[in-house]
Amino acid sequence: MSGEVAFEEINEAKANMDHVYDQPDPRAYFRELERLGYAIPGHAKPIFLKLIAHLRRRPDETVHVLDLGCSYGVNAALLKHDLSMPDLYEHWGAQALTDVTPEELAERDRDFFDNLDDPEAIEMIGLDQAESAVAFAEGAGLLDGGLALNLENEPLPGQVREELTQVDLVTSTGCVGYVTEKSFDRILPAITQGQPAWLGNFVLRLFPFDAIADRLSEWGYVTEKLEGRTFVQRRFESEEEQEQVIEQLREQGVDPTGLEAEGHLLAEFYLSRPASPTNIPIERLLAA
Ligand SMILES: C[S@@+](CC[C@H](N)C(=O)[O-])C[C@H]1O[C@@H](n2cnc3c(N)ncnc32)[C@H](O)[C@@H]1O
Repeated sequence: MSGEVAFEEINEAKANMDHVYDQPDPRAYFRELERLGYAIPGHAKPIFLKLIAHLRRRPDETVHVLDLGCSYGVNAALLKHDLSMPDLYEHWGAQALTDVTPEELAERDRDFFDNLDDPEAIEMIGLDQAESAVAFAEGAGLLDGGLALNLENEPLPGQVREELTQVDLVTSTGCVGYVTEKSFDRILPAITQGQPAWLGNFVLRLFPFDAIADRLSEWGYVTEKLEGRTFVQRRFESEEEQEQVIEQLREQGVDPTGLEAEGHLLAEFYLSRPASPTNIPIERLLAA
């Protein structure tokens, strides 16, 4: 069965959030997700920062990151700046300004993010099918490059391929499940040019990562899951959603006892690196 068919079926168990993914600014997205305690980019931040520190060969060298499913630049805001998810909820959530237009908000945000202290030396390219979200993130200065693409349905344009050859690290939070091995297939020829990029994906336990890991292995990658750790993505939207997700997990042979059964959608972390005898084991690499 292709990943896409399986993921489409699995997605039916989850509440549909599509209406907040492609607005002219992040206020509706953050209002909706604040209600559900969406937290995964905050849990991902320290792990991505460790990988970035590891990939930075010289102090102050810029690390090039490609964020899949970048949305309004959430991971970019967290990774470049000393900001947390609660800070972003305060900035864009229920307390956000309501009397400004999306354009005014983007302009204010550009000043806001520009004036924060010492941004990390990270260049962030964001890819998302949501054109308006990507445009906002670029306008606010969070993304250094925005790619409004759906690689499930379209190839990577030639000029973009060139841009992605510099990428050191591919990140994603909350995106695998919407994207399948097809999207990875389409970026792999670019991100493996020269020094192949690493990939760090936070993936709901609902979505098997096998097909993507298999594809990556064809390009010389080894994928490891960070064992013994789960990360809260968000609360279930309703009892119905929880029941459907639990049923779906059980059908896949994944035991939700003490985990999703307690009320949250949970993700795991997969790191894919070029096979090498000198690779430090994932647990040691990510140890504090
Ligand atoms: C749950 S949101 C996660 C956004 C962000 N990474 C975060 O954690 O806040 C899922 C994102 O995947 C994007 N998405 C859905 N299908 C996609 C596709 N085929 N290609 C690229 N992005 C997609 C949506 O537009 C949305 O921005």
